[in-house]
Amino acid sequence: MKPAILVTGGAGYVGSMTCKALDAAGYLPVVYDDLSSGHLESVKWGPIEQGNLADKDALKAVMVRYGNAAVMHFAARILVAESIQSPGLYFQNNVACGLSLLDAMREVGVDTIVFSSSCAVYGMPDTTPITESHSQMPINPYGESKKFFEAILGWYGRAHDIKWAALRYFNAAGADPDGDIGEDHSPETHLIPLAIEAALGSGSPIKIFGTNYPTPDGTAVRDYVHTADLASGHIRALEHLQRGGASDAFNLGTGRGSSVREVIRAVENATGTTGISTAADRRAGDAPILVADASKAASVLGWRPAHSDMPNIIRTAVDWHRSKLATNHPRVALS
Ligand code: UFG
Repeated sequence: MKPAILVTGGAGYVGSMTCKALDAAGYLPVVYDDLSSGHLESVKWGPIEQGNLADKDALKAVMVRYGNAAVMHFAARILVAESIQSPGLYFQNNVACGLSLLDAMREVGVDTIVFSSSCAVYGMPDTTPITESHSQMPINPYGESKKFFEAILGWYGRAHDIKWAALRYFNAAGADPDGDIGEDHSPETHLIPLAIEAALGSGSPIKIFGTNYPTPDGTAVRDYVHTADLASGHIRALEHLQRGGASDAFNLGTGRGSSVREVIRAVENATGTTGISTAADRRAGDAPILVADASKAASVLGWRPAHSDMPNIIRTAVDWHRSKLATNHPRVALS
């Protein structure tokens, strides 16, 4: 029988890509999702149990029913701007509900968790590329909620022998090469899907938020990492913990930065368009440069991104957007 892994938020963008990778690696992904932003259509590789993370008894019942060997915890609120307006939603969902998950695990004897963290824990970094030991001073409640939950994992590890890995994603991007899953939040705020919508004529021109950053072309630089690579990072982290590896936090990024203009140019090249952007003011809270030093994930987990070159990220994302437009594909959102 395949080992069953509980995947909270498994109906979302990165969660569902990871379910696909879990299935390919010989696990049964058991999705636990309230479908508030994820979608049923993206649950294809195992059963779904619809429920809320705050419901500790429901979580316990699911873990017992499937005999879950470990948990992958994706379910979270993810919008930085929303977190500034409504911090309570972020601390409630990303911290308090996470506590209910950890207590449920403890009470039924599941002791291993891989957690979706974020480079937002670093805030405005003063060095680049960023290593895991960089100081953590989040500049919004979203990043603060991820930092809190990492700290909670550390304390639960000491007190209750919970084994954990916190994976600090840089910019999740791209779509499933087989067309199963793509990025489509509601509302959409992310650069790549908005640029593609502008290029395919289904959205307004993309605004470049800030053209006077201290970067080579004046626009902000990010480290875009394909969700297929994030998914393989989760499997590597799970197997590291199962081998008795130490609980720890790991950056998942490529170590290469791309500017906003470079991303837009890649979208224009892939779609045969030009002039899809206009300059705009900086967006509050954006750091000029966020690029990972992911050497710890390479040396400890043996993880190396294989799908994250920018043309591949853009090609897979454009293909998915085109097929969505052609078939009125149901929206698949990140949770
Ligand atoms: N950008 C634009 N125009 C847009 C949208 C974005 O110029 O219409 C720029 C942003 O200013 C930024 C870059 O494109 O410089 C990337 O922005 P995204 O919104 O795509 O992604 P973020 O870097 O803001 O956010 C990502 C994750 C968050 C996480 C954050 C950590 O989506 O969940 O990284 O810094 F918190």
